[in-house]
Amino acid sequence: MHMGTTNNSDRIHGLGWIPAAMMVLMLAVLALPGMAMAQEDMTMIRSDAFEHHQRPAVRFVHDMHNEMAEIDDCSVCHHVYEDGKLLEGETSEDEPCSSCHPAQPESGELGLMRAFHKRCITCHDETGKGPLTCGGCHVKN
Ligand code: HEC
Ligand code: HEC
Ligand code: HEC
Ligand code: HEC
Repeated sequence: MHMGTTNNSDRIHGLGWIPAAMMVLMLAVLALPGMAMAQEDMTMIRSDAFEHHQRPAVRFVHDMHNEMAEIDDCSVCHHVYEDGKLLEGETSEDEPCSSCHPAQPESGELGLMRAFHKRCITCHDETGKGPLTCGGCHVKN
């Protein structure tokens, strides 16, 4: 009886090792895109949602930009709306702009390019700081 129990638990332990190893592997794989999502590493805006890019990628050193521009509120850019109303204090930084602003907008929708331009250029214009020319944002390497 005693031997049987020991063998049994050994077998269970032995089998349990394989799913545990797979879990570790899966977690490691899942962690990779998560790490790429850190905004402190972001230096460029290049949305995959545009099928054909007509312009070079846009310079945007995320954290440095927001520090220099003294923007503390993430929802200035990562906003949330409900029934057409802006929700104060809610943020959507876990979602790319393209998840709500389509690259190919239907009429009446705010398309992705206009959403970017409206957000970025309006503030530069109003504050008199930051680039306003195409090449100032879409920088050639
Ligand atoms: C001036 C505008 C602006 C502000 C302010 C801002 N962000 Fe962002 N952030 C962006 C843009 C643009 C992207 C790229 C979105 C896309 O890919 O569609 C982005 C992407 C991100 C991402 C994803 C990073 C990646 O590599 O995909 C995270 C996370 C993020 N921001 C967090 C924050 C947090 C937290 C704050 C406030 C502390 C903040 N952001 C403030 C503009 C801003
Ligand atoms: C969770 C959905 C969602 C995300 C993510 C989102 N938006 Fe919006 N945005 C909306 C909605 C809804 C409106 C209001 C209706 C409309 O005009 O499309 C709006 C309006 C806007 C407007 C016009 C009003 C204003 O504030 O000037 C701009 C510009 C804009 N978004 C830019 C952006 C940018 C840039 C990003 C990414 C950093 C972004 N949005 C991410 C849903 C979203
Ligand atoms: C709420 C205001 C505001 C918004 C929104 C904003 N900016 Fe700016 N931006 C500034 C200010 C202010 C500066 C000047 C900072 C300084 O040099 O002191 C600046 C500077 C810059 C610069 C030059 C400095 C550098 O980092 O090379 C670039 C490029 C830039 N912005 C790109 C963008 C892009 C792209 C967006 C949209 C995703 C954006 N900005 C949205 C306020 C804003
Ligand atoms: C303040 C910064 C800023 C300025 C100034 C600006 N853009 Fe953009 N533009 C952006 C951002 C951010 C995107 C999103 C980039 C991406 O995802 O590749 C964008 C996207 C685009 C796109 C769609 C993506 C592509 O590559 O085809 C076009 C076209 C474009 N801009 C053209 C222009 C033109 C033309 C001008 C000058 C009249 C201009 N932009 C000025 C920030 C800017």
